[in-house]
Amino acid sequence: MNFHSDKTTISRRDVLRAGVYAGLALGSAGVWAACSGEHGMAAIPPAVIGKESGLPLTLPPVLQEPVLRAETGIIRIAGIESPVWTLGGSYPSPTIKVMQGQQFSLNLINALSVETNLHWHGLQVPPGMDGHPKDAVPPGGQFRYTFPVLDRAGTYWYHPHPHKLTARQAYMGMAGLFIIEDPREKTLGLPTGEYDVPLVLQDRRFSHVQRLVYAPSMNDMMTGYLGDTMFVNGLPVPYHEIENGLYRFRLLNASTARVLRLEFDTKLTMHVIASDGGLLASPIATTQLWLAPGERVEVLVDFSTIPVGASALLRTAKFEFATPQQPGASLHGGISSFEQGWEMPVLRFNITRKSQRSSVVPPQLAPLSDFGIDAARTTRIFTLNMQMTGETGGGQYGSSTAMMPHTINDKLFAMNRIDEQIPFDTVEQWEFQNKGDEPHPMHVHGAQFQVVWRSGGALLPSDAGWKDTVLVFPAETVRVVVRFAHYRGLYLLHCHNLEHEDDGMMANINIL
Ligand code: C2O
Ligand code: CU
Ligand code: CU
Repeated sequence: MNFHSDKTTISRRDVLRAGVYAGLALGSAGVWAACSGEHGMAAIPPAVIGKESGLPLTLPPVLQEPVLRAETGIIRIAGIESPVWTLGGSYPSPTIKVMQGQQFSLNLINALSVETNLHWHGLQVPPGMDGHPKDAVPPGGQFRYTFPVLDRAGTYWYHPHPHKLTARQAYMGMAGLFIIEDPREKTLGLPTGEYDVPLVLQDRRFSHVQRLVYAPSMNDMMTGYLGDTMFVNGLPVPYHEIENGLYRFRLLNASTARVLRLEFDTKLTMHVIASDGGLLASPIATTQLWLAPGERVEVLVDFSTIPVGASALLRTAKFEFATPQQPGASLHGGISSFEQGWEMPVLRFNITRKSQRSSVVPPQLAPLSDFGIDAARTTRIFTLNMQMTGETGGGQYGSSTAMMPHTINDKLFAMNRIDEQIPFDTVEQWEFQNKGDEPHPMHVHGAQFQVVWRSGGALLPSDAGWKDTVLVFPAETVRVVVRFAHYRGLYLLHCHNLEHEDDGMMANINIL
């Protein structure tokens, strides 16, 4: 696929240079003090990035009681004690399992020293239950979330969404799967039980410190807080013992910023059966799969060609954007050690026994209504850019920094400003125009959409079906068709690079 460059794009390096001079001219001590972060760390040679840990895969616990307590704690990761922030005491957070049509209720208890809340990513819930940052739960407070489960069977997730604190809380461990089932899906004979494996994928900065530390530098706030090691279900590059049969994997990219390009070293075929909003009409076979932060896919993988005793490695493949991502100069004049596109191992599958099960991939899955692009009455344009000068985002570093936060339609998020008024139950086409050199996974609350066009080429396998998050590559334009048909009220549109989101790449949308 070719993501042609846009000559009018101002590279981040140019902007950063401008920023460096601005910062120096200000001579602000605050700037220097603020970027303690992890500067001075030498670039990590790719050969040692994210080594396999030799730890067996574990699955997140399934939530039993409708209560989640947000609190800090210490857990052992790969035998080493790490601070974590948890919901319900585990990292990742417990998996919530519900049936479509059920009334869901859960009590959040905030035992943190900062505000938090919960957002049900991908679910269509009433605005007051959606985890808008204005609905944060103060330290010591509680909130009861309750809503009917309207969405299709599928792999959704939940995480906090407090103002400017989402990335930190998710990074430190507060995020879990929300799996919806329905009776229809059960008739398809998809792999179940131990053959239906949820995989929460997250990159973490682990090689040097071997614990969770969220300390983004100013440069990290621009690229996102990229890690050097892939974690699966809270463990660094584990292994999983399986039989040589058909498996269903539910993949969630819960990284704050890292875009994944998943493949097997043995080039096994992945049959994509579901995306963000549940089952596709029919499977899509691929050997490589883009998965941006916030996105989910479900794949069937048949290991029958791999002999017992052998193994297959799931990894994220190396990539570069046609509009090269500038290795951003930091204010210290150094180069960021962390980049998108690193090849990293994710999970090793060791084939330890023969399968007796059938490995037939169902040719038909679930009916999928199609808006059709022609149904859209309006086109709404969202430009994705970077703020060049002047007003700052007042991000994690306050207003004295020279950073250039990302914007939607040249605006930073403002809690009390409504950015878009959207008519209820009306099909619209939305166009995301990426004017910069970084990928932006754009996510909407309150509705699922369909991806209809990419300027960069064909749609991706992960674009199929009902979506709530779509990857917009550097300099690319992506069109989706959306309709808000369940609730009126206040929702959000934002980049799911959570550093971008916290720093203001978010808009209030009001469904009228
Ligand atoms: Cu997963 Cu508004 O977020
Ligand atoms: Cu969401
Ligand atoms: Cu972004």
